[in-house]
Amino acid sequence: MLRGFLAAISTLTFLSLGALAQDDHWPYMTLLTAPFTPPQLEVKKTGLTDPGYIFIGPRGNQPSGVAALIYDDDGNLVYQGPPDVSANFKVQRVFNQNVVTFWAGEMMFLGFGYGTVHILDNTYTEIYTVVLTGNFISPDGLPRDSYIDLHESHVTKRNTLLVTAYNVTQFDLTPIGGGVDQYMLDSLFFEIDIATNEIVYSWSALEHIQEIPLEQSKQDLVDEYGTLEMPWDGYHINSVELVDEGYIISLRHYWSSYYIHTNGTVMWRLSGEKGVGDFEIDDDAVFSWQHDIRVRNQTNDGMIMDLFNNANRPLETTAPTTGLSLAVDLVNRKVTTLRSLNDEDDVIHAISQGNYQLMSEQTNHVFMSYGSTSKVKEFDANNNVVLTAQFGDEGAVASYRGYKCQWKATPAWKPAVVVERNLNSATVLMSWNGATEYDNWAIYTASSLESTDHTFITSVKRTGFETAADVHNLRSPYFQVVARKGNIPLSSIIVPVS
Ligand SMILES: *[C@@H]1O[C@H](CO)[C@@H](O)[C@H](O)[C@H]1NC(C)=O
Ligand SMILES: *[C@@H]1O[C@H](CO)[C@@H](O)[C@H](O)[C@H]1NC(C)=O
Ligand SMILES: *[C@@H]1O[C@H](CO)[C@@H](O)[C@H](O)[C@H]1NC(C)=O
Repeated sequence: MLRGFLAAISTLTFLSLGALAQDDHWPYMTLLTAPFTPPQLEVKKTGLTDPGYIFIGPRGNQPSGVAALIYDDDGNLVYQGPPDVSANFKVQRVFNQNVVTFWAGEMMFLGFGYGTVHILDNTYTEIYTVVLTGNFISPDGLPRDSYIDLHESHVTKRNTLLVTAYNVTQFDLTPIGGGVDQYMLDSLFFEIDIATNEIVYSWSALEHIQEIPLEQSKQDLVDEYGTLEMPWDGYHINSVELVDEGYIISLRHYWSSYYIHTNGTVMWRLSGEKGVGDFEIDDDAVFSWQHDIRVRNQTNDGMIMDLFNNANRPLETTAPTTGLSLAVDLVNRKVTTLRSLNDEDDVIHAISQGNYQLMSEQTNHVFMSYGSTSKVKEFDANNNVVLTAQFGDEGAVASYRGYKCQWKATPAWKPAVVVERNLNSATVLMSWNGATEYDNWAIYTASSLESTDHTFITSVKRTGFETAADVHNLRSPYFQVVARKGNIPLSSIIVPVS
């Protein structure tokens, strides 16, 4: 059992091993004003970074703090979301406004998930909730409220959401050495209208078996796999991008990206393996077990394709994990490497997960999460590392993807305040989960919870997530605590002094 289990670990399952290790040396924050214990983010800056906050969704051997998290790039916590396993937490644009989106749900040990995509405005109010229902078969036979897989939650310019889904299907696996009535996972993707939750497009790999034959899968059929409970994951779809007249998808277990025409036809295959597929690739463009294939600068003649080249999987480390930016020439069917990103001083073999984010077309900075390795890195235009941040024990905590995004938020909720009363003074602890715009706190007297006339006592600069102020004037029974930007009040709350 163990051998088959280890050999077939594909994307997320190493975490169950991490959890068994009980090896939590990583420091976790304790806060007095919030019931969180998020991981401390250890940041190393080695150059000039682009502006933005770090968005991660860590999970693994953590004592707690599994949630969608935002930190500033000095490592201060800014936001902790609900205590859900999350993925793809980032800023996107929906109906012309900046929102944060994340997938939250349940991860199956087979390397996919069942969940829901949450879309929150800049007050963290949920404005859209995207679900996928339908006739799906799960390995445990249990129905789910929503079948959106964790791997993709990409908003398109037409205000739709591209998501992936996995479905257990009985299938003839004789082409890969199995039996006639075994089970595998079909890889599907859906385009869903965000406003109405209607499915506007769907596609299934198994319906295109002639164009994507099972024999081409790099995922061997081992031992116990091929049953209803342990279906063979032949394709492993992990990203979907909208392009003119179709979609570009990533099938990890084929080391390839495919252009799917809107009519469903597979128009071409770009393989990371030389001599395979419809393109001739240069030496640096070789990739395998990849994630997060993104497309930009699309014309009739070509496009730029960015991707996270894992180059490794559990039990094998073959080459450094790299970020690749490729020029795809559709006329001559040639692929030329534009950039290959690797920190020579900290070579990583990310055995699963990960992503590549072009932060800005002006600065050409790239942000990468190393998935199963609990690190993120920012590279500058010259491919030098300018920031590395770690959020857990190496190999025991993962963030499926990680992003660096600019974000402005003023939460719908009020600040949280704890007053620690001493004999003749008090320490006031203040935080405002998710708020990006305040830079200082002011404390005033208050005669009651409803009072409106207040006398200024003191103000203190914001220091990270939680700020402490010592107050010696204890003549009033209450304090009014105000989060401010300069002198402008943004939110306030009245709390008892003792
Ligand atoms: C899932 O697979 C089953 C067969 O196992 C099939 O009947 C069903 O239509 C599939 N669902 C989707 C959404 O493709
Ligand atoms: C889909 O469109 C492409 C491009 O026009 C064409 O080559 C292909 O045959 C079409 N497939 C089907 C099933 O109509
Ligand atoms: C891609 O497009 C952007 C915006 O149009 C442009 O600034 C950039 O130079 C293009 N990149 C390449 C490599 O062609």
